[in-house]
Amino acid sequence: MSNLVLIGFMGVGKGTVARELIKQTGKFGVDCDDLIESIENRRIKTIFEEDGEEYFRNLEKKTAKWLENNVTNTIISTGGGFYKVENLNKIGKVIYLESSFEGIITRIKSQPNGDKKLAKRPLLKDMKKATTLFNERAPVYREKADIIVNVENKSLENVVKEILQLVK
Ligand code: S3P
Repeated sequence: MSNLVLIGFMGVGKGTVARELIKQTGKFGVDCDDLIESIENRRIKTIFEEDGEEYFRNLEKKTAKWLENNVTNTIISTGGGFYKVENLNKIGKVIYLESSFEGIITRIKSQPNGDKKLAKRPLLKDMKKATTLFNERAPVYREKADIIVNVENKSLENVVKEILQLVK
């Protein structure tokens, strides 16, 4: 198995699924947002506030190049806009975690610290804008994906089982 790259909208559970995949496969894992935050030594929210979205997107492109050239056999979770990097499919097998917008918001709110999880995402601040963004992105996530896994109303265990069967 080469790298697995999890893509999908904010809050769909990319990090949670990645951690379970790591546990079950014994593979190593990286999270693109965490890498960017550690390199910059500041939160994504602060990067957006201080330097704007374009600056952040360039950091994602840089991360994508590094992943392509240096990382193998790893579970990679990404931010919701990472799918735009031009070398996405060169990094590994791309898995889209799919859910409706309503399903995602319900998931975030039902988590411990749900409000905090909403607040840390600058692009989820305005629900109307977030809905538009979701509708724009949903078909593109599908296009970019090698594998599409519907995660709505499914247990973590079943999502992971499905992914592992599909990537065999
Ligand atoms: C973004 C999603 C975020 C983070 C940044 C931008 C997006 O990651 O990368 O706030 O454009 O959808 P999560 O998908 O982990 O929330």
